[in-house]
Amino acid sequence: MDKGIEIARGKTKVLYEVPSSPDQLVVAQGDAITAGDGARRDEIPGKGRLAAQTTSRVFRLLNLCGLPTHFLNGGEDDDDNEMLVRRCSMIPLEVVVRGVAAGSFARRHTGLQRGAILVPRVTEFFLKDDANHDPLIAPEEIAARGIASPNEIGAMSEIARLTFEILAHAWRHRDVLLVDMKVEFGRLIGGENQGQLVIADVIDNDSWRIWRHGREDQMLDKQIYRNLDPVDAEALARVKAAYEQVADYVGNFPAMRPGVAAIFVDDARMVDRANEVAAALHTFGIPTARHLASVTVTPGYVLQIVSQIEAGFARPIFVAIGDQTLRATLDGSASSPVIDGNDEPHRIALACAKLLAIDDSAMFGRVMLAQSNARSEMLRVDALLQQQLPPGAVIA
Ligand code: C5P
Repeated sequence: MDKGIEIARGKTKVLYEVPSSPDQLVVAQGDAITAGDGARRDEIPGKGRLAAQTTSRVFRLLNLCGLPTHFLNGGEDDDDNEMLVRRCSMIPLEVVVRGVAAGSFARRHTGLQRGAILVPRVTEFFLKDDANHDPLIAPEEIAARGIASPNEIGAMSEIARLTFEILAHAWRHRDVLLVDMKVEFGRLIGGENQGQLVIADVIDNDSWRIWRHGREDQMLDKQIYRNLDPVDAEALARVKAAYEQVADYVGNFPAMRPGVAAIFVDDARMVDRANEVAAALHTFGIPTARHLASVTVTPGYVLQIVSQIEAGFARPIFVAIGDQTLRATLDGSASSPVIDGNDEPHRIALACAKLLAIDDSAMFGRVMLAQSNARSEMLRVDALLQQQLPPGAVIA
C-alpha cells in the first residue's frame, strides 16, 4: 500500500499516513504478542498476517451489516498485513461487552459462577492508561471528564453491543461461544460524516475470548498465551496454531449467503404494491423477483415459476400478494417459506430478513441495526414531543 510517514506505534501495530489522502491511514499489524500491559512479550512469525486477516474479515462483516467502522479495504495476503482505514481521533477508552462471566469480570464479581451467561449483556468502559493498568471508568465520569459526550457514550454502548451480538451469531455457527470482546472508537477527522463515531483500531484474536463448544478448556484466543507457563517455542507454536484456525474460521464471516424474495401478485392492479414491498426488501439488501401469476387465470404458470425459483442457487422466500388462494397454493407447492404479502411492506421485509438471518450473520446484523434505529427514532420523537409540553403536563 502507498504509505507515508509513521504517525503512531502501538504494542502490536504501526500507523502510517497515506500521502495522497489526508483522511486515511494505513494500519500494519505486527508479529508481537503481549500480555499484562506489555509485561510479557513475544514474537510469533506470521502473527501479523493472521491478525490483519482476522481484523479485516471482522470489519468487512460489520460494514456489510451497516455498522459505522473505520475500515476501507485490505488486510488479505496480497496486502502485506496492511489495511486502509479512515483516519480518526481516537477516544481513549476500551469498550468491553460480556456475554459470559470470565476474566476480570469474574475476578471482580466473586459471587457469580465463572462461565455464567450474562443477560442483559454487560458493557464496561476502561480508560486507556497503561501506567494505571487501564482502570474501569463509570459513564458519568467519562462525561464529567469530557472524554465523550453522554450521546456518544450511549452510541458506543449500543454499537459495541450490536457488534458483540453479530460476532456471537457468526461464531455460534462455527460452534464457538463468544465470551467477551473489546472494541475501541474514534471520531472521523474529515471527509464524509466528519466527527462521526466509528468502530476503529483492530478486532482480532487478541480482542475477544472464544470457547469452542462453549468450553473454557477449548479456548482459541489470546488467553492461551496469557496462561502459558512456561513460554517456550513449543507453547508459542500452539498459540500460532490457534490463531491460524481463528483466521481461517473468520474467513467466511463476511460472506453473505445469497437469498431472493420472490414476490407474487395475482392481479395487475396490485403491481404498485409489489414495487413497495420490493423497495422495503431492498433496504435490507435482499434481491427480489416479481411475478404476476394467478391461481385462477394462470395456475400452471404459478407452479412453473415456483419450481424454477426453487431450482436456483439462492435461498428463496415467497411473498404472496392478493387472494388467499395464491398464498395457499404457494404454501402447498413450495418447500421454501411463504409470507403473507398483504401486510405492511416494512414488516414483510423484516420477516424475510429474519428468515435469511438464521444462517447469515450480515443479514442478522442488518435486522439488529434496523431494530436499533427504530428504537432510537422512537426515543428521538418522544423527546421532541415532551419538549413541546408545558412543565408538569401529564403524558397520556
Ligand atoms: O481482562 P478482561 O476480562 O477485562 O477482558 C475483557 C475482554 O477485553 C477480553 O476479551 C480481552 O481479550 C479484551 N481486552 C483487550 N485488550 C485489553 C484488555 C482486554 O482486548 N487491553
